Amino acid sequence: MGHDIENENSDGADVTIDWDAGRATNLVNWEERVPIHEGAYGIDPFRVDPMHVSSVVRSDLAALARFLPDGGVSGLDVCHLQCHIGTDTVSLARAGARVTGVDFSPAALASAAGLAEELGLEVTWVETDVLEARAAVRGDFDLVYTSIGTICWLDDLDRWAAQIAGLLRPGGTFYIRDSHPVLLTIDPDAAELVQRDRYFANGLAQQWFGEYTYAGGTKLTATRTYEWPHPLSEVVNALIGAGLELLRLDEDWRLPWKFSSRMVEVGDGDWAWPEGERDRSPATFTVVARKPA
Ligand SMILES: C[S@@+](CC[C@H](N)C(=O)[O-])C[C@H]1O[C@@H](n2cnc3c(N)ncnc32)[C@H](O)[C@@H]1O
Repeated sequence: MGHDIENENSDGADVTIDWDAGRATNLVNWEERVPIHEGAYGIDPFRVDPMHVSSVVRSDLAALARFLPDGGVSGLDVCHLQCHIGTDTVSLARAGARVTGVDFSPAALASAAGLAEELGLEVTWVETDVLEARAAVRGDFDLVYTSIGTICWLDDLDRWAAQIAGLLRPGGTFYIRDSHPVLLTIDPDAAELVQRDRYFANGLAQQWFGEYTYAGGTKLTATRTYEWPHPLSEVVNALIGAGLELLRLDEDWRLPWKFSSRMVEVGDGDWAWPEGERDRSPATFTVVARKPA
């Protein structure tokens, strides 16, 4: 499996690992995160309030409104890539979409399907690697949606963009909001904003050891993960290369997860650096693109 680690124990070290081996290691880690995230994601509000949608989807639908035919997803076929335990997927269903949720984790999909069933929502779930999604998912879509914590897990964005282009109908819309690649270079444990990690892709994975997930909860045993940094230019150029037209590129200082213990809550589930530092680094980026009609 070609595992040539510079320093076996150093967090963020560049390593040579082939996609199948890196992906398999990540899958074990994601499977273990599922019960932890079921406890930490705040699922009860979905049960208590039949109108409740996740703050991520609420914010994304507001950003998407002007790019959708009737300003919303009601009646649209939506494919949600890397849907995890389905909190955003059921939110899209509650907004009226016919949704297909895609993930490579059987435990995540079982959890998501259980939640949808409990809430009385009809959602199609597909277990596949996102890099093979076009072949695994039936039909085509008005909107392909993916958000927050997605592309860092993928080695090949050209292949990713090709799946998206293949899943979209002519005239269909693609939406991504994710952690900004600049944010992911910053040392979360430093007392001030310090760039520590690689920004550009170099063909190598970064190896990480994390005892806890970003949502907290209990300790993981499968602590090792691999991530592939992708600069913003790579994201945009992969989508253009797959034939999509760029409609919008945005950057924001707010982030819907706590990247660093120095981050403070700024409302509606969002976190940010302390005041005075927020104009120094972006926290998320958003891209809206369209498949030509
Ligand atoms: C941080 S979650 C993103 C979803 C959403 N932001 C959330 O928190 O519910 C990342 C998801 O990507 C999935 N994933 C990671 N690598 C994948 C791959 N190669 N193919 C499909 N899913 C993958 C994981 O199983 C996980 O459910």
